[in-house]
Amino acid sequence: MPHPDLALPRLIAHRGLSARAPENTLAAVRAAHDAGITWVELDVQLLGDETPVIWHDRDLKRCSDGRGRLADLTLAQIQHLDAGGWFDPAFAGEPMATLEEMLVLLDSLGMGANLELKVNRGHAPEALAERVVPQVLDALPPERRLLSSFDAMALAHSRRFAPAEALALGVLFDRVPRDWEPHCRAIGAFSVHAKWKRLSEARARAIKGAGLTLVCYTANDPASFAPRWNWGVDAVISDDPTRFAP
Ligand code: G3P
Ligand code: MG
Repeated sequence: MPHPDLALPRLIAHRGLSARAPENTLAAVRAAHDAGITWVELDVQLLGDETPVIWHDRDLKRCSDGRGRLADLTLAQIQHLDAGGWFDPAFAGEPMATLEEMLVLLDSLGMGANLELKVNRGHAPEALAERVVPQVLDALPPERRLLSSFDAMALAHSRRFAPAEALALGVLFDRVPRDWEPHCRAIGAFSVHAKWKRLSEARARAIKGAGLTLVCYTANDPASFAPRWNWGVDAVISDDPTRFAP
């Protein structure tokens, strides 16, 4: 399977450097960069008006001073939210980032992004791919972009915009199932993203043996995680990857 010339670093910051800054914000990406981390994982989903934004939850409650479901909101309605004060008063006033704003920052910092496509209730996976993939293709070069999803349809629709050699796609699993390989082949996947505590050594070695990149999420204890490196794991997504640094 041809792939872009993409070598993931071993350490990827989950939702930006979310241990030290409010998750999925521009501040969290700057914090990752300042800590010497070159790649971030970020969640992307659509507002009700189909604006792609960087956000994990279906609603505003946990990570902002607002209320409501993203599927019911427009860009105008999220523009004055405080998405930082809940984490620490030092980040008060940090906005919810649009995908467009985030891509500008990532490119200005020369960073790579694993953008996780979150299909929100009320939206079809096609709409998410249509709104996100062309923007990402325009903003970041092939070696600094990787789209992943738990949603097979979101990945299949993403593939329509670029071939495997131009766009790396990652299949997200909780526990990697016995029949993982057809799912990956069907979309010309670059990588498998596995929940680290539920990954077996045999499955890890099979994924590597099939020529795919293997990413584990979300690990925060380097000592417990350590044996996985010998299984061939290529990269770890962590809230604080600086803990893993040699
Ligand atoms: O992409 C890995 C990880 O972010 C998936 O789970 O819920 O943290 O988005 P979640
Ligand atoms: Mg995620």
